[in-house]
Amino acid sequence: MGVGMPSITKTLAKRILPQIAIEAVLRRREKRALDLVPDLDFEPSALIASTLFDHSVIFAAQSPLDSDWEADHGAIVRQATEGRIGSAVSAGDRRALYRLVRHFQPKSVLEFGTHLGMSTYYLAQALARNGAGRITTVDIIDVNGDGGAWRQAGLKMPPAEIAKALGLSGHVEFVAEPSTEFMAGQQDTYDLIFLDGDHAASAVYREVAWALGRLNPGGQIILHDYFPNGTRLFPDLQVVQGPYLAFDRLSRENPSIGIVPFSPLPWTTMPGTNNTSLAALVRM
Ligand SMILES: C[S@@+](CC[C@H](N)C(=O)[O-])C[C@H]1O[C@@H](n2cnc3c(N)ncnc32)[C@H](O)[C@@H]1O
Repeated sequence: MGVGMPSITKTLAKRILPQIAIEAVLRRREKRALDLVPDLDFEPSALIASTLFDHSVIFAAQSPLDSDWEADHGAIVRQATEGRIGSAVSAGDRRALYRLVRHFQPKSVLEFGTHLGMSTYYLAQALARNGAGRITTVDIIDVNGDGGAWRQAGLKMPPAEIAKALGLSGHVEFVAEPSTEFMAGQQDTYDLIFLDGDHAASAVYREVAWALGRLNPGGQIILHDYFPNGTRLFPDLQVVQGPYLAFDRLSRENPSIGIVPFSPLPWTTMPGTNNTSLAALVRM
């Protein structure tokens, strides 16, 4: 009999330790790249106040909005979820985004990172239910072209066609452009900005600084892949380092910027967990 670790512990250690080492290397790389970005000016006065972001109300376990949700979710599932959509935001995250839009009733929404359009459909469907509103969704890739992820995912139509089939065309505008170009050429302002595009710390730092200047009063900036303090939220998913490192720098440079992680939600987000990497920036 060996004297060392029991074999189950050894197996776990073999699986987890290399991942921790990889995460440490990635974190150092992200930090170095972020350090090269000069300090940016950002003005958080338009950002929603922390006192107005009541997690327990927005994400209550039961809500009068649940019957709308069941109907809208059912319609989207019929059009868009027969493919391999694991690279999109999780089912539970889509529900949280839907709740957010129903609660705050934004009229103008901007999203970086369209990909399969899964978050887009739920944001747009919630705007439609509210009675008005438009989402501009930006991706560095032409998500509706043959090179779009919808093909590899096995979806039967590209995102613009799915939006049309859902009756959402009037609520969604697709833009194929890197966020840097979009930001350079844009003067519009938004009630809600959802950042799920380039997750590098340097990119998120630039995008948040820009987004703070494009928010209407009381507006919101929502991050995806925010892992508080770089700790794991899901046993089998590696930590994404960029968003939390970007927030760490932003909040050191301007302590009036805070963050409200949405985790845990009162519903399952992925099999076996209620955790989510969604988070809202708030003014303290
Ligand atoms: C994780 S996916 C977004 C998932 C999407 N929200 C969904 O639910 O289907 C990230 C997307 O961001 C896009 N992206 C990466 N870097 C970008 C950039 N610099 N500007 C715009 N989009 C970018 C990628 O092409 C990819 O489609």
